[in-house]
Amino acid sequence: MNTSARVTIHMAASLDFFIAKKDGSVSWMETSDRYEKGVDDVTAEAAEEFLRGIDCYVMGSRTYELALKLGWLYGDTPTIVLSHRALQDDRNSVSFYSGDLSRLVNEQLKPRYRNIWLVGGASLAKEFVRLKLADDIRIMIMPIILGDGTLFMAHVGQEQPLHLKDVTAYKNGLVELWYEIRRE
Ligand SMILES: NC(=O)c1ccc[n+]([C@@H]2O[C@H](COP(=O)([O-])OP(=O)(O)OC[C@H]3O[C@@H](n4cnc5c(N)ncnc54)[C@H](OP(=O)(O)O)[C@@H]3O)[C@@H](O)[C@H]2O)c1
Repeated sequence: MNTSARVTIHMAASLDFFIAKKDGSVSWMETSDRYEKGVDDVTAEAAEEFLRGIDCYVMGSRTYELALKLGWLYGDTPTIVLSHRALQDDRNSVSFYSGDLSRLVNEQLKPRYRNIWLVGGASLAKEFVRLKLADDIRIMIMPIILGDGTLFMAHVGQEQPLHLKDVTAYKNGLVELWYEIRRE
């Protein structure tokens, strides 16, 4: 087991904690807001450098199907898609998994990868928290109230203390909250 391996849940949400609109549109993730005291927005080069540090992505089938439709953002980084169905399979970097999530993380992912990112969606993120498979949660709060949609972490069913690791406010009005999941 790679003891330094970490699983990070990463998602964008509105201030009322919706991660998707009912009609599936994603334009709410673009912002024209300005917060002058914020740090500079991430440049394309810095984003690329950062993404190179991610060793593996994990996502649910609905997120995968949307990612194929909207444009693949995950390059050639190994990506594990969770599904009980046979899905479109035309990328060498993508593999599919069905079954026990603890076995996936502890027996397949953590021994192989160090920086593992769960990038959606809502139901898979909730399961990772419930089963204590995530180490960090990084959530980007967009400057918008959506009013309805798919909630981030609805009804996890148990309390989970967190440690606030970092907060970054950007010039474009995004605020990143980075929490570590406390194990005690
Ligand atoms: N704001 C953001 O940052 C962000 C990021 C990602 C996604 N999203 C949004 O989130 C929504 C999708 O989230 P969602 O909760 O509906 O779906 P999801 O978490 O993407 O996918 C759920 C699916 O994963 C599969 N799955 C989960 N656990 C499994 C297991 N142990 N074994 C096999 N398959 C398993 C099942 O697929 P099958 O039904 O195929 O068996 C299940 O229906 C979309 O609207 C998307 O836009 C938002």
